[in-house]
Amino acid sequence: MNIDILLGLQWGDEGKGKIVDALSPVYDVIARFQGGPNAGHSLEFNNIKHILHLIPSGIFHADKLNIIGNGVVLDPAVFKKEIEELGPPVSELTKRLIISNKANLILPSHRILDAAYEFSKGNSKIGSTLKGIGPAYTDKTSRNGLRVGDILKEDFRHKYNDHLNDHLTILKNYDFKFDLKEYEKGWFEGIEMLKKFPISNTEYLINELAGKAKRILAEGAQGTMLDVDFGSYPFVTSSNTISAGACTGLGISPKLIGDIFGIFKAYCTRVGCGPFPTELHDGTGDNLRNIGHEFGSTTGRPRRCGWLDLPAMKYSIMINGITKLFMTKADVMSGFKTIKICTSYKTDGKICYELPFSIDSIIEPVYTELEGWKEDISGKRNFNELPAALKKYIEFIENQTGVPITMVSVGPDREETIFRN
Ligand code: GDP
Ligand code: IMO
Ligand code: MG
Repeated sequence: MNIDILLGLQWGDEGKGKIVDALSPVYDVIARFQGGPNAGHSLEFNNIKHILHLIPSGIFHADKLNIIGNGVVLDPAVFKKEIEELGPPVSELTKRLIISNKANLILPSHRILDAAYEFSKGNSKIGSTLKGIGPAYTDKTSRNGLRVGDILKEDFRHKYNDHLNDHLTILKNYDFKFDLKEYEKGWFEGIEMLKKFPISNTEYLINELAGKAKRILAEGAQGTMLDVDFGSYPFVTSSNTISAGACTGLGISPKLIGDIFGIFKAYCTRVGCGPFPTELHDGTGDNLRNIGHEFGSTTGRPRRCGWLDLPAMKYSIMINGITKLFMTKADVMSGFKTIKICTSYKTDGKICYELPFSIDSIIEPVYTELEGWKEDISGKRNFNELPAALKKYIEFIENQTGVPITMVSVGPDREETIFRN
């Protein structure tokens, strides 16, 4: 069982990029299995912050192989920009990164469709990142998609035009202005960049490497509460963000899965629309946003902030089969006199522990209040040095969830990480 999975338990932005980068030294391969440029995975080292959208977060380790799996939807324009901004020369990066020929392409017209659909929804919009994710996955499942492997075929341009014409026909039904040429130029330049990289049936490679006892880390994007089946539908993304998504998104058997790491912030954030039971609309929410720099890595939008939601987290742990918990941004909570943690919900006057089906249900969080801690913990590197109140907070979560917290992150840098024995 050589394949571990790391994924988000909340609404995304839990700190996956930072932790995948910090864990990369113990793996041989880092593979993204779903999502696309809607993701923004930040990581920091040597005082430089990088934000990755499509490229796996192991890319800065020269001796690691990174794979963009078949479950990802890839926008060539975003890919090119990201490659050029990474730092190492393209000739070096082509040795570190392989792309599945079965990953579906996001076309310029997918981005336009995404925007047209959102615009037409008025007040009930999803809050999409507008990167074309929904329309690209729709074409994939309706068997109308173009895939990365298609770019190597002679009739690619012809196929592209057919797809574009289909999309333009749909767009006639929307009163939406767009400039296709603006997107297309960068997109076709991106196709040329993609061609420089190895494109293959990565499912064979990944299974072969797992068979040779190479260690593989599957990197999730978004979070469980944004999963298309189990999130707060329709305010979700369009892929399976859960552990099962790693099997379909990379072509691996569940038999090969070892640990499933669930990553969560010490509090909660959500960007975009949709239910958020523990959201704070007061000064405490503003404090979390300001201290935690809670602004979207992809869109720059302010993130909605609130207390930790244990019923939602227990649900995520169950759906994913989490074996170990990683807690990030504990440092952001320093200085709060008390910390609240939601342990159940009240709906129609009754206590419940499960997420309701209807997103319209009025749910009131029921909180337990714990003592906060004052100390700045960003310099701590040993679990035993952490303040007693933080250890109690950790113990409370472990007792409630039944899963050990084996890593605590105390800052954005890869060094600001405490692994617990
Ligand atoms: P991802 O999408 O899950 O990779 O998370 P994002 O990168 O979108 O958002 C997490 C943000 O928190 C980024 O700005 C990180 O640099 C930062 N971050 C990650 N871990 C920590 C931490 O433990 N403490 C603090 N203060 N910031 C962190
Ligand atoms: P990472 O990987 C946070 C949210 C959007 C919107 C909804 C649907 O950085 O954690 P989409 O563009 O997928 O159609 O948007 O999902 N969303 C994210 N929120 N982190 C992300 O990724 C997200 N990717 C999508 O804000 O509410
Ligand atoms: Mg993010």
